Amino acid sequence: MSAHDTNLLGTVHGGVVMKLVDDAAGAVAGRHSEGPAVTGAMDEMAFLEPVRVGDLLQVKAQVNWSGRTSMEVGVRVVAERWNEAGRPAKQVASAYLVFVAVDAEGRPRLVPPVLPETADDRRRCQEAEIRRTHRLARREAILELRRERAAADALDD
Ligand SMILES: CC(C)(COP(=O)(O)OP(=O)(O)OC[C@H]1O[C@@H](n2cnc3c(N)ncnc32)[C@H](O)[C@@H]1OP(=O)(O)O)[C@@H](O)C(=O)NCCC(=O)NCCS
Repeated sequence: MSAHDTNLLGTVHGGVVMKLVDDAAGAVAGRHSEGPAVTGAMDEMAFLEPVRVGDLLQVKAQVNWSGRTSMEVGVRVVAERWNEAGRPAKQVASAYLVFVAVDAEGRPRLVPPVLPETADDRRRCQEAEIRRTHRLARREAILELRRERAAADALDD
């Protein structure tokens, strides 16, 4: 990370880390789905420790789950401090993103299934399904509330 990336406090701007997260997640989503994939949603972006100028960042991304056309990608960002040689890299951020595979017209296209290989893969896949259920339920609940409000407003007019 360089001085170009800093905020007013002199640490690295969260948006710079988010861009790296989105780039890495897009790369693995594109690789898994064998074509272009776009970011549909990003949630649970957590900044766990400040990132500093001079830090070497590693961004690790994995497709946790896939549905019909969407995938959940988990991302972990770890930092090696330039002045803490020999110490283990520290996790500084994590996030979950939904990517949707798209065709040349930008329409969702089918993605291959995720085949978990390890116990960790299986856990990530199960946890991703829980997050998906909550994401869709939250979105539907908000849309339903808006529909009810719009109907009530129409009656008042
Ligand atoms: C993402 C996009 C292609 C989805 O199109 P859409 O017409 O809403 O597609 P659908 O309703 O068929 O949803 C496609 C999939 O995304 C999932 N999805 C869409 N919005 C979601 C959300 N907010 N959270 C979780 N999943 C979501 C759907 O559940 C579906 O998954 P499935 O096929 O695995 O069951 C469209 O909204 C889009 O082009 N957005 C802009 C993307 C973009 O520009 N990103 C930034 C630059 S890369």
